[in-house]
Amino acid sequence: MSFKVSGTELFDAHFLKQLQKLKVGGITADEIEEQRKKIRYPEYLGAYKVEEEGKYNNFKNVDGAKNDKGHLGDPTFKNLFPQGSKVKTTDLSPNFGTEIEGVQLSELSDAGKNDLALYLETRGLAVFRDQDFRDKGPDFAKKFGEYFGPLHIHPVSFAAEDHPELLVTYRPAGGDERYDNEFANRTGAYGWHSDISFEEYPASFSFFVALEAPQSGGDTVFIDLREAYRRLSPTLQKFFETLTVIHTNYYQNQFAKLKNYIARVKADYFTEHPLVRTHPVTGEKALFFSRAFTHSIKGLKNTESDAILGFIEQHVTGNPEFQVRAAHKGTDARSVIAWDNRFLLHTATVDFLQHKTPARHHFRITVLGERPYFEKIEDKENLHSNGSANGNSNGHSNGH
Ligand SMILES: [Fe+2]
Repeated sequence: MSFKVSGTELFDAHFLKQLQKLKVGGITADEIEEQRKKIRYPEYLGAYKVEEEGKYNNFKNVDGAKNDKGHLGDPTFKNLFPQGSKVKTTDLSPNFGTEIEGVQLSELSDAGKNDLALYLETRGLAVFRDQDFRDKGPDFAKKFGEYFGPLHIHPVSFAAEDHPELLVTYRPAGGDERYDNEFANRTGAYGWHSDISFEEYPASFSFFVALEAPQSGGDTVFIDLREAYRRLSPTLQKFFETLTVIHTNYYQNQFAKLKNYIARVKADYFTEHPLVRTHPVTGEKALFFSRAFTHSIKGLKNTESDAILGFIEQHVTGNPEFQVRAAHKGTDARSVIAWDNRFLLHTATVDFLQHKTPARHHFRITVLGERPYFEKIEDKENLHSNGSANGNSNGHSNGH
């Protein structure tokens, strides 16, 4: 079993030739103006501007663990699901993921947002329908996100026009010509990751707002890395708790250069994070394995690192017992999907290209969380392992 760092194929001359010939992995910077004429929300596909090159830096979130809004959440979620309201919740699996109808995110009070934070920290993933979010404008979206913490500016991704904090994912509308390009030289376009794990302060929450979406397909699939950790033997759990993983965005930046994207934040990171991390509010442990940005295990020889990462990849991504799918259900479903990146892995699925579909177009609000840490707790009484307590004691310690 071996492990190949994602993106190293960019240094393969034959792969590069194919990449230039075919439209693999989405549109180039030069094609954005042409695409903007065809979509419902052109303001959420901003053109790259040369003057934005290197213009931004990301924030630190030193008190992220202490300031996490989940500490203020009510474990009964009474402010998210008020008594007497017509809220319907449908769990996607017993352990994590819930679809919610009857809650309008834009109307939540601060107490409701606190409950939402705690809800995401326990259920991991929430899928909301019939949201008015996408029509309230970029300023509203940013204000909503900022309640939970500083917002991330992605170094190279598409973004909303003049709002670099709103990351955009986009695949054009069309038919099966897209399929021929995408899969000419590869069998899959998925990429498992935890958002921006290469950052010193990676994401806590992501809010993923559908602008246009295929009626079926293009789901986002999630993996619960708490359960992936729990399934391991105590011996392996303890060993993994001693390991540090190097995360990088170097290859993503290389790909962006090939597509002529501007780097708003100019930085190639090689960031160290623990392989097992502690959640600042629930105290739960999870593997922190962000496949697409994982480079190697610090201090191990290459063959050792590759073997261990290869095992983890197989263990984490190969087990459907701790995976769920979140469906976007078309443009009219007006879906907003939110999750906690600290213990969920996810990927988009590209299973709709043989069919005539609208664009798959979303924007994402990405909230910076704490610097990942592993807290060895000898005294089990202090461990808030069920996520129902507010976890203040954990949040104040070791959060860097
Ligand atoms: Fe993502």
